[in-house]
Amino acid sequence: MKVLVVGANGKVAKHFADLTQDHTDIEEKAVIRDPGQKAFFDKRGIETTVLDIVHNSIEEFAEAMNDVKAVIFSAGAGGSGLDKTVMVDLDGAIKIMTAAEKANVKRFVMVSTFRTGRKQMAKGIENDWPLKIYTIAKNYADEWLKNRTELDWTIIHPGTLTDEEGTGKIKVGMGNRHGEVPRQDVAQTILASLENDSTIHKEFEVLSGNEPINDAVKSV
Ligand SMILES: NC(=O)c1ccc[n+]([C@@H]2O[C@H](COP(=O)([O-])OP(=O)(O)OC[C@H]3O[C@@H](n4cnc5c(N)ncnc54)[C@H](OP(=O)(O)O)[C@@H]3O)[C@@H](O)[C@H]2O)c1
Repeated sequence: MKVLVVGANGKVAKHFADLTQDHTDIEEKAVIRDPGQKAFFDKRGIETTVLDIVHNSIEEFAEAMNDVKAVIFSAGAGGSGLDKTVMVDLDGAIKIMTAAEKANVKRFVMVSTFRTGRKQMAKGIENDWPLKIYTIAKNYADEWLKNRTELDWTIIHPGTLTDEEGTGKIKVGMGNRHGEVPRQDVAQTILASLENDSTIHKEFEVLSGNEPINDAVKSV
């Protein structure tokens, strides 16, 4: 299966790119926004396309999806400003969902944040929490995916991401206490989600844990 990765140059997605090297059933097409990022993917034999979520159109993204069967959204504005958070994490995510529907690509894996939902947003409003706009953006992107599309979605809610080496073991479910998870394990979880259609129309938290990733993903 060929998969378009949006946010391919990100830290989670680069682990995903490495994992595809041992998975001949998954072929990546990487969306980068700077041609200078191409070398990493060339080295791994991964096709790249240069597109920017903010500046390119839904039609241009749909065209890039012509030959793929799934989309992974792992992009994020990071700390580049609240305007970018709205343009990338909210509007950008919806642009990519709309492009997928236009291109008739059904399978969509969203890398969300640990906890979204109204309760979490309310907490941010009361405490002037620095991540409140980000959480609101991620929440409505998730809501759009679940309620406004016909896509075969999976929403992954990782805890705080670390650059520790992955353990290959995670904890899934919903309503867990907040914790951390290595980016490498999140990348493996994305891959396992693509390989397990039982994750379609499911959302789940991902934290470091004791269950082998594939078994954990199968259990959601
Ligand atoms: N940090 C955490 O603890 C945490 C926790 C839960 C969930 N998450 C989410 O997990 C996801 C992946 O995290 P990560 O650490 O891999 O993030 P990351 O390293 O910051 O990667 C984000 C990627 O998005 C790309 N991007 C940003 N704006 C773009 C635009 N306008 N057009 C195209 N691409 C754009 C960036 O491109 P460049 O490489 O060109 O900058 C980068 O490659 C993100 O959605 C993040 O919100 C993070």
